[in-house]
Amino acid sequence: CGGSSDDSEGGGDDAGLGLIKSGSLTVCSDIPYPPFEFEKDGEYTGFDMDLMSEIASGLDLELAIKDVGFDGLQSGSALAAGTCDIGASAMTITEEREKNLNFSEPYYDSLQSLLVPEDSDIKSIEDLAGKTVGVQQGTTGQKYAQENIPEDAKATAYPSDAELFPALQSGGVDAVLQDLPVNLLHTQEGAFTIVEEYDTDEQYGFAVKEEGAEKLLEAVNEQLATLREDGTYDELYDKYFTE
Ligand code: ARG
Repeated sequence: CGGSSDDSEGGGDDAGLGLIKSGSLTVCSDIPYPPFEFEKDGEYTGFDMDLMSEIASGLDLELAIKDVGFDGLQSGSALAAGTCDIGASAMTITEEREKNLNFSEPYYDSLQSLLVPEDSDIKSIEDLAGKTVGVQQGTTGQKYAQENIPEDAKATAYPSDAELFPALQSGGVDAVLQDLPVNLLHTQEGAFTIVEEYDTDEQYGFAVKEEGAEKLLEAVNEQLATLREDGTYDELYDKYFTE
């Protein structure tokens, strides 16, 4: 490897990985989404971010993280526009998204859940009748809500968890429907409880653009396999998901 480092044109060298900035792995995410991506002491961290950091260093690349919001990431537009090389955003692999994105091997299994204030009389999704449930725009949680809440319930979409959870805290919404690990963390931030889990069988993957990132995807999958073999994956898993 080695090579010149002043090649910042698109499609630079880096062993043919086609990176948008030579020498760097530029990662797009939607932050905050703890424990997967969040800011701590002025730095981006979390399960996804730590995995990306390991993958970048395994490829001899610097890590650059951009917070671009979730909707443009899951639709494929941020990656197609060349904003970043890869998306790491607790993103569920779905058929719909696979039309515009290519996903890595799955790296995390997830499911949906319903979070409510502890004193709420909402005990199940049926109890949302006449109520409002908050979701994040463009997510599988939004889709699940749209398909499963009672007819006279309303789903209100927020651009990110940074607006969604405060809406529940202020009473702007009666419940929040989103990925279980994220709701689980919110139960530690006050008087909130998870009343239902929905076994949606979701798997997260890292995403690259639909065409022209095959080499990068292959390299990322190799790194991921190495991290699973050498115990790094388990270490990070324990760091973020121990009960
Ligand atoms: N797993 C869900 C989905 O793919 C939610 C992901 C939201 N991620 C984020 N960083 N906000 O739709």
